[in-house]
Amino acid sequence: MQRIAPALRQDNVPLDLISLIKTVLAACKEISFRVGQGHLSGVMGSTLDENIQGEVQKELDVVSNQLLKDILLESGFVKAISSEEEDTSVAGNENGKYIVSFDPLDGSSNIEINSLIGTIFSIMEAPEGMSADNPDMFKQPGVNQVCAGYVLYGPATILALTTGKGTHFYTLDKTHGSFMLTERNVMVSEETSEFAANMSNQRFWHKPMQNYINDLVAGTDGARERNFNMRWIAAMVGDVHRVLVRGGLFTYPADTKDPKKPYKLRLMYEANPMSFLIEQAGGLSVTSEGRIMEMQPTDIHQRVEVILGSKNEVEKCLSYYK
Ligand code: F6P
Ligand code: MN
Repeated sequence: MQRIAPALRQDNVPLDLISLIKTVLAACKEISFRVGQGHLSGVMGSTLDENIQGEVQKELDVVSNQLLKDILLESGFVKAISSEEEDTSVAGNENGKYIVSFDPLDGSSNIEINSLIGTIFSIMEAPEGMSADNPDMFKQPGVNQVCAGYVLYGPATILALTTGKGTHFYTLDKTHGSFMLTERNVMVSEETSEFAANMSNQRFWHKPMQNYINDLVAGTDGARERNFNMRWIAAMVGDVHRVLVRGGLFTYPADTKDPKKPYKLRLMYEANPMSFLIEQAGGLSVTSEGRIMEMQPTDIHQRVEVILGSKNEVEKCLSYYK
């Protein structure tokens, strides 16, 4: 079994990017350890604070954010970071080559039930001619990502990573502290009979999505003439991991529940990195209007509609919008 650094060198990933990835993973190993300690870690509760998006911060959100932020900003490789838990971007080394966006702990409502959570990250090159404290550096479309990944803190700690040469899985060997390559070139099956959506929002979705899901739920009695299964982990990392492993369609569609918030998932540190991983595994990742990675961001905390997964099923879903 190969360790991560030689596996990345084999893919001709530049040495400074390999070092940066190893830096991100050093923080993730520490988060994995704390998550694995459960209540013994002493960081399982909620704080009294909310992040800029009005969500109550859990202690583990704050600790994970601090671990990633400190190690990245000290590394020298990074010009700036942006995080779900930071109001705006944070400057690092003015001469750093890369910028990193991350969701330090995705699915944090799962913390208290000892269920799946994870860290999602996206790496781009810093554009020329902007100072490290300029958040506009992050307003690049997802196609500019040079690396994206997530670390899933489950029964095993698993890294899904792409540098644009396929999506690969690594498993943390907790006895040695190294991520080992456990599956090269993961492929999302083109066909699926499984979908993931928060069905309690169904009445707030736009008509095309309601019609599409109604046809899945109707099973053999409906237009699709076969049964579909449903799964919802309520942590995007968990749901996307399942899609990478066994196919499926995952969606957090536009809804009218709160007119000020038509979408839920964040473009920079949720939708873009997951789109890169899914596309590199042969799947599709779109909004009802186009490819997510081609969107020009306007805000670092921008939210976006997400429909991703098995190619033929995503195309089927989109056909309801025509
Ligand atoms: O980060 C947002 C998030 O927690 C995702 O990880 C997850 O897919 C979604 O929200 C869950 O939403 P809901 O609480 O509506 O099920
Ligand atoms: Mn999240």
